[in-house]
Amino acid sequence: MESNSNRIPTHVAIIMDGNGRWAKAQGKERFEGHIEGVDSVRECIKAARRNGVRYLTLYAFSTENWGRPQEEVNALMELFCKSVIAETPELKKEGVKVVMIGRRDRFSEKVCSHLEQIESSTAEGENLTLVLAFDYSSRDEITVAMQRIAKQVAEGQITPEEICEQTIAQNLYTAQIPDPDFIIRTSGECRLSNFLLWQSSYAEMYFPQTMWPDFKQEQFDEALEVYAQRNRRYGKL
Ligand code: IPE
Ligand code: IPE
Ligand code: MG
Repeated sequence: MESNSNRIPTHVAIIMDGNGRWAKAQGKERFEGHIEGVDSVRECIKAARRNGVRYLTLYAFSTENWGRPQEEVNALMELFCKSVIAETPELKKEGVKVVMIGRRDRFSEKVCSHLEQIESSTAEGENLTLVLAFDYSSRDEITVAMQRIAKQVAEGQITPEEICEQTIAQNLYTAQIPDPDFIIRTSGECRLSNFLLWQSSYAEMYFPQTMWPDFKQEQFDEALEVYAQRNRRYGKL
């Protein structure tokens, strides 16, 4: 699970933002920004692999994004399905294991089946774990974790006093995934928008101005250079 060097983050998490603004600046429809954004996903997977990053989490759709116009939501779901079909062979070849985090009870049957298909067909991947946060939000995740823990207490599996930080971490969607070392949000917005609130306690943060459709391998490499300059103290001296 360790990377080659502690200058390379084991886990990079990205809030892929700015697709709509990128499209607008080019006189295009918002959706064209999402399409170009898929190319950035491909590029960042390659760059992550090349640099020896072991976990790459991408925030693809938040629980709040259902509030966008139905047309855009439908287009994003369709783009997800198409991308799963198009990218699965390459992901398998590259040894990328795809894991989804988020709710699973609000997707159409079609989206659910694509989601299960990409997870099962890439399950053997050992080079990089690609975590897709899809219908994800951190408060939802923490709420679900609290329900699970309450149930364990009610059933007598643990006592309230036995609940520790690990209990909470193990009941999140990210139970099998180490905390992110480095969180990148593109487009210049400086907020987390309900992303990995528990897991990000000691993550380094980086907010480049670049819109997501312009964030390619070169920009990913530049971000890793920024990370390499950071001094992580974890409250110590
Ligand atoms: C990020 O780009 C993609 C998703 C949230 C699905 P946006 O669609 O938020 O683009 P902007 O922020 O409006 O430019
Ligand atoms: C965050 O971006 C969610 C994703 C990138 C999937 P948004 O564009 O939805 O966030 P806000 O509304 O600017 O905070
Ligand atoms: Mg946005």
